[in-house]
Amino acid sequence: MKHEINKSLYQHKIISIEDAVNFVKSDMNLVVGMCASEPQGIMKNLHLVKDKVKNVNIFSVLTLSAFDFYVKPEMKGHFKLTSWFHGPYARKALAERTGTVTYVPNMLHLCVPDFLSARKPNILFGTCTPPDRHGFVSLSLGITYEKDIAEKADLVILEINENLPRTFGDTQMHVSEVNYFVEHNGTVPTLPTVTPDAIESTIGNYIAELVEDESTIQLGFGGIPNAAALSLKNKKNLGVHTEMFVDSMMELYEMGVITNAKKAFNRGKFVTTFAMGTPKLYEWLHENVAVNFQRGGWVNLPQNISKNSKMVSINTCLSVDFSGQVCSESIGPNQFSGTGGQSDTAIGAKSGFDGLGKSIIACRSTAKNDTISTISPMLAPGSAVTLHRSNTDFVVTEYGIAALRGRTVEERTKALIGIAHPKFRDMLMEEARKMNYV
Ligand code: COA
Repeated sequence: MKHEINKSLYQHKIISIEDAVNFVKSDMNLVVGMCASEPQGIMKNLHLVKDKVKNVNIFSVLTLSAFDFYVKPEMKGHFKLTSWFHGPYARKALAERTGTVTYVPNMLHLCVPDFLSARKPNILFGTCTPPDRHGFVSLSLGITYEKDIAEKADLVILEINENLPRTFGDTQMHVSEVNYFVEHNGTVPTLPTVTPDAIESTIGNYIAELVEDESTIQLGFGGIPNAAALSLKNKKNLGVHTEMFVDSMMELYEMGVITNAKKAFNRGKFVTTFAMGTPKLYEWLHENVAVNFQRGGWVNLPQNISKNSKMVSINTCLSVDFSGQVCSESIGPNQFSGTGGQSDTAIGAKSGFDGLGKSIIACRSTAKNDTISTISPMLAPGSAVTLHRSNTDFVVTEYGIAALRGRTVEERTKALIGIAHPKFRDMLMEEARKMNYV
């Protein structure tokens, strides 16, 4: 990224990565930037102080790399990745019972006050751009919790990375608010765009049927939301209020599909709390005033989401039971990911001020090579309920749309069996009868 760099503004605060990790002491609570805001240089070196520390908790979301401090079993008792949302390596470490990973149940918009009620943040390790000529750095690709924690932490240490885009909204911090900087011009973590397969495209087309022109949308992550975005190409004047900003939003804006012009809340602006995507997205976000980055506690506050007109939340799940209870974060008792903002956005959408909001949950009808039906009579024992059944308006699979809002358990059961994979429908109906649901 092109930044005007005036080193005299922060020269006196620069320390080495080694100095930064040496601030870590036993029993501390460290909070680190999430996803593309991960301070890669510091996290890659945290394990170096292993023999000097015990019981250090590292709070993060969707940790993207296999950092030694939590993937190596010998780190047990020294470090614990205390995660608000698991990524692939956290899942693996959990499965391997390394004792270095645990999960904090949370809803994204409350993760900071929940954290502060239980703990004191000792150090925030984050990332930022070089300061502008007025001495302000930008926290760049996300302020889900980073800025809130910076205001409460004993110590704020940021990695300055010239490859990060300068973004607007509430992302700015003055150099005087930061204790130390580490210079680390590493590669910013990216998320590739993937072409949807046939099933995802079919699901995307059904979702598009539910999205009216001039709607404000939130998209979750993964193949299905991406396919849904591609299916929205013929819509007019869409707006965005979303926790995660992705490539498809930039693409729909460039095509003139998203204009944000008809939004009832923050008209003319994208509203988001973090971004993750391709290098092209990061370049596009650089100095782009169309995108308003705000704190997660504000973006995902259901009361704020509900101020949008025709608000539609589009998220995915792992399993749905006959009554509409949704599990999106665990496979039985094994934590797979996290609640993230799923329940925030669903509640905010369905309680939209104009009565036109919708909460949509989508999934493939089967998992594991068609051996498991994702529509099931009951959630598997130990499953976490991500979405309360009264917050599930529509469930979509490749076999259609089940409308649940305001419907009875009997109506819900029949609608959900109607969008299950045909090979499971007889078995599911039999179970429904046994349960006295139909
Ligand atoms: N039982 C057992 N396994 C299942 C399953 C089920 N009911 N449903 C899916 N799986 C398996 C899949 O087969 C797949 O296994 P594999 O990795 O061996 O292929 C794995 O679980 C992941 O499933 P997939 O459908 O590919 O997941 P995804 O990457 O599309 O992510 C969620 C889907 C639901 C996990 C993800 O969207 C999430 O974590 N959501 C919660 C948070 C959220 O929505 N936040 C708001 C937006 S940011």
